Amino acid sequence: MVVCHCLAVNDSTIRELLDSGALSVEEIGTRCGAGTECGSCVEQVRRLAVPQTFAIRSAVA
Ligand code: FES
Repeated sequence: MVVCHCLAVNDSTIRELLDSGALSVEEIGTRCGAGTECGSCVEQVRRLAVPQTFAIRSAVA
């Protein structure tokens, strides 16, 4: 599923970035560009990122 239409970034790419250690929407944007053009996909990127970063923070705590 395409998440960022401006840069044709799909959810698989974002999940791969999360799996490889990306910890924020900003970091995902830096690595693949999602959310860095019109910004309309930022909330969708955040929804993909939050459960995973919460799990990582819980595991570390
Ligand atoms: S849809 Fe992602 S920046 Fe525009």
